[in-house]
Amino acid sequence: MAHKLAAGNWKMNGTRADLGQIMALAAAHPDPAVDISVCLPATLISEAAQHVADHPITIGAQDCHSAGSGAHTGDIAAQQLLDAGARDVILGHSERRTDHGEDDALIRAKLVAAGDAGLRPILCVGESLAERDAGRTLERIGAQIDGALEGSDGPPSALVIAYEPIWAIGTGRTPSLDQIGEVHDFMREQLKARYGDTAAAAVPLLYGGSVKPGNAAEIFGVPNVDGALVGGASLKESDFTPIITALSAS
Ligand code: 13P
Repeated sequence: MAHKLAAGNWKMNGTRADLGQIMALAAAHPDPAVDISVCLPATLISEAAQHVADHPITIGAQDCHSAGSGAHTGDIAAQQLLDAGARDVILGHSERRTDHGEDDALIRAKLVAAGDAGLRPILCVGESLAERDAGRTLERIGAQIDGALEGSDGPPSALVIAYEPIWAIGTGRTPSLDQIGEVHDFMREQLKARYGDTAAAAVPLLYGGSVKPGNAAEIFGVPNVDGALVGGASLKESDFTPIITALSAS
């Protein structure tokens, strides 16, 4: 069985003044059976990692470069994130695919770099509304997973996959529970076909896109949903803790 994981994605939000939210999250002492990760802007990783050192919470990053070091102004290598205290890294988020033109081949290279450095990659996949309306959701998700995992014999170490329909991110709209279940079942089958039943079962499959305290429990009740990647509702401890509690109870 996959570990349950509640991951927050602060995106380009937050300054050091907001780190109290993470200390409050640690103080809320959520269930140790649920893994908690907060993926922060790079500027906050080091200080946040020190705050959670004695708590069952890991700090993550939101991207890494595919190279180990070198002349890449403004970029950050996986090893540098690890050194700053990150343990997880989001890769292939739709906002990076859009804002920075990231394609599956680049995301695959980043997955390898993250794995080599010992970071846990959280690979994001998801369809646009036009793709869903055209009945191409599973085809799109399948292509993104294949593109990112191509050539790997086994799952990249500690792989996590997050299904984030682009049209549900930050919009307050969520797919129906049947729609979420259809995609998550499909992703599990894709992983089984690629890596076998046991390895596939160990990969946490997260849902992301407008997860809130009010809808978390029903989403976590969907088979093959092992947790959530939470944007807006991860910024405040008072929103994130009830989501973690719902996952713990699922
Ligand atoms: P929201 O939870 O704000 O919709 O963001 C989801 C997301 O993109 C997490 O990576």
